[in-house]
Amino acid sequence: MPSLNEIRTTFLEYFARNGHEIVESSPLVPRNDPTLMFTAAGMVQFKNLFTGVEHRDYTRATTAQKCVRAGGKHNDLDNVGYTARHHTFFEMLGNFSFGDYFKSEAIPLAWDLLTKEFGIDASRLLVTVYHTDDEAVEIWKKHAGLPDDRIIRIATDDNFWSAGPTGPCGPCTEIFYDHGDHIPGGPPGSPDEDGDRFIEIWNLVFMQYEQMEDGTRRDLPNQSIDTGMGLERIGALLQGKHDNYDTDILRALIEASAQATGTDPDGPQNIHHRVIADHLRSTSFLMADGVMPSNEGRGYVLRRIMRRAMRHAHLLGAKDPLMHRLVPALVAQMGQPYPELGRAQSMIQETLLSEETRFRQTLDRGLRLLDDEVANLPEGGALSGAAAFKLYDTFGFPLDLTQDALREQGRGVDIAGFDAAMAEQKAKARAAWAGSGETADAAIWFDLAERHGTTEFLGHDTEQAEGQILAVVDGNAPVAEAKPGQTVQIVVNQTPFYAESGGQVGDSGTLTTAEGRARITDTRKSVGVFIHFAEITEGVVKTGAGAVLSVDHDRRSLIRANHSATHLLNEALREVLGDHVAQRGSLNAPDRLRFDFSHNKALTLDEIAEIETRVNNFVRQNAAVTTRIMTPDDARGLGAQALFGEKYGDEVRVVSMGQADTGKGSDGKTWSIELCGGTHVARTGDIGLFVTLGDSASSAGVRRIEALTGAAAFDYLSGQDHRLAQAALMLKSGAADVPDRLRGLLDERKALQNEVAQLRRELAMAGGAGQSEQPGADTINGVPLLAQVLNGVTGKDLPGLVDAHKERLGSGAILLIADAGGKVAVAAGVTPDLTETVSAVDMVRVAVAPMGGKGGGGRADMAQGGAKDASAAQAAIDAVKTLLKG
Ligand code: ALA
Repeated sequence: MPSLNEIRTTFLEYFARNGHEIVESSPLVPRNDPTLMFTAAGMVQFKNLFTGVEHRDYTRATTAQKCVRAGGKHNDLDNVGYTARHHTFFEMLGNFSFGDYFKSEAIPLAWDLLTKEFGIDASRLLVTVYHTDDEAVEIWKKHAGLPDDRIIRIATDDNFWSAGPTGPCGPCTEIFYDHGDHIPGGPPGSPDEDGDRFIEIWNLVFMQYEQMEDGTRRDLPNQSIDTGMGLERIGALLQGKHDNYDTDILRALIEASAQATGTDPDGPQNIHHRVIADHLRSTSFLMADGVMPSNEGRGYVLRRIMRRAMRHAHLLGAKDPLMHRLVPALVAQMGQPYPELGRAQSMIQETLLSEETRFRQTLDRGLRLLDDEVANLPEGGALSGAAAFKLYDTFGFPLDLTQDALREQGRGVDIAGFDAAMAEQKAKARAAWAGSGETADAAIWFDLAERHGTTEFLGHDTEQAEGQILAVVDGNAPVAEAKPGQTVQIVVNQTPFYAESGGQVGDSGTLTTAEGRARITDTRKSVGVFIHFAEITEGVVKTGAGAVLSVDHDRRSLIRANHSATHLLNEALREVLGDHVAQRGSLNAPDRLRFDFSHNKALTLDEIAEIETRVNNFVRQNAAVTTRIMTPDDARGLGAQALFGEKYGDEVRVVSMGQADTGKGSDGKTWSIELCGGTHVARTGDIGLFVTLGDSASSAGVRRIEALTGAAAFDYLSGQDHRLAQAALMLKSGAADVPDRLRGLLDERKALQNEVAQLRRELAMAGGAGQSEQPGADTINGVPLLAQVLNGVTGKDLPGLVDAHKERLGSGAILLIADAGGKVAVAAGVTPDLTETVSAVDMVRVAVAPMGGKGGGGRADMAQGGAKDASAAQAAIDAVKTLLKG
């Protein structure tokens, strides 16, 4: 009996042998379709190949595609557990031709695989075709030898397949298996076709048209093939089962659930195990593809599925969180074909544990409330909308969980009442918002959030995605379209562009629609709505259009490296400087990072070197960077750094990186753990290199470090190295000797400076060259006066020179004027015997005045002053002479 893993391999290898490229499953979050919540068919990743917008170097492909049908257009959530063939997660096996082969090859390929490779009894197979498709009928007759009564013409949409309201579509033929007349049910198209006797196993779509937005249909450039066969269905058939949940993988998960809860895998509890097995697959695969539980959008669908499973675990009597304990069984079953599961295993387990721990806190009380409410209802009566809303709002019961719980009792929920209660809550939120003092121009974003929900951010996992334009805003008013030259703000339902927050700058890039193009220069957000600042460059960009959004990859990579380096820096600072270090602000831009932190003195060179060493050690470690969602308390329990005074919501994103030898936190290994919504490198090695540009004071008690990473860090260091080499060349030394040589030169310079000063003084005393007046004294009014203008002497030298002259003269007055390049210093001295007659202070006062100076200070025997204009030196000397004359 082949296992599902073997069947998958047989399928892929069969088509590979027939010239098909084996293409990996695309992620569950479609990047190329803004209207799809989750990938729900194999053709999703090839949509643009069918329409001819995209070309690849193969025209035949085969895949095993991960699919989720829960939320959005395709939703099987409500039926899971209760039927044999509904799943929220399943694998779709498919083969595809992009303008290569068509019906005449597709039908034989399928028939031969089923009857020859898989050995299915041909007499049990029958097919449906679209009622007008005579060509398909002929091929079935010719190749498979099917008689007319086993080729059923169907006139409905059942045999005309399209992925959505627009896009590639075409007639299809479906292959059914007849399980025998012991099972009730009629053939397709008959009144009792919904019975379980005839089971559809494979759908072959003859892609031929494209459904356009205006309702018309055009021919595809090439006729193509898209097929889909549920692995679980074909598996059940080949394993001789009638129920998909009896196939090996799902059975193993059911048994794991039974074992972990000590319950019977079969019997009445089987339904709970089925729900758990299915939901374990969808939740784990969604998380492995980057969807995280939240209260909106895809994250909320994930949370709904989780909580539904958790209620069933509770019904099984599980005393502790269950789901996370089943993940190893899933990885054992499916980790080999889907390695992303193993890579994300610990994150999935932790998230499930944290979600279930939290939900269990209200689950019991919610179920009691539900019981009380139901007790008051008449037989079969519906639960009031108000009660369902209370369960939703206060106890975290998604509506479908409540519906699921009531279904067992044959009851429903008053949906209109629930919607009314929800609308009332929104109205209250609006009133509170309006009263919060927000500016009027924010109202437009609030309106958009209310109408369409907040923007779904895809940029943690992808830099390119399609979105639908919800609004084009020009000068605070929504407009239908924008043309080149206009700068507008664009809002889409989902985007890979990061909006400025947490110190990380907003992304830039391009937005392209079928009719136009815009350059996105910045992205910000308001009330959860991402606002793309756009300059229209070509054509016309219209509200309502689908758009391809591409983030500037190079710029984003630089920002990512800087942001992750900031986390490592934060941790290194705490280790080197102490636990008082707390983040006070940061900037993560493409060209640099800046980090402000509490610390009250400048860092020493040794501290900076140590910090750089530690950060670079973790860069070279090249450890994976992981993110998880948890409650703020759980995050703090792990040792996560939280911003002081910051308000956090119910849940936070926790970014961890680096493996410490001896660590902190409950896992004892992770070096840096921070609450952060930003985008980060996949591995620390992607940072490349880290170097600081030194530290400076930012404000009182706060220091600031600026730093570079990657190529910028290298360029900086290489520039420094080049300058050092130049210096070494000039010093005629090796680079390593530069500091010693410099120290030597500086010492030598100091000694020379002293020597020069001494020589200048000596020269001045000796009345050396360049002096305007010979040293010698004129006696005026009985006082010998020596007045001299000196060049190349500074104000500092003057008192010493005055003293020397006093000593030489024995008795007299001295006036020295030093012209020190733009500044004039004046000093006067009077020998003790004459201080009664003339004061040095007065001499300076009268001397500086003509030279544009003022005042002067000192004592009667020695005074100093300053002036500006040395050309008036003679006038200054004359003024002193006049003073002496009395
Ligand atoms: N795309 C087709 C389906 O999903 C094959 O059934």
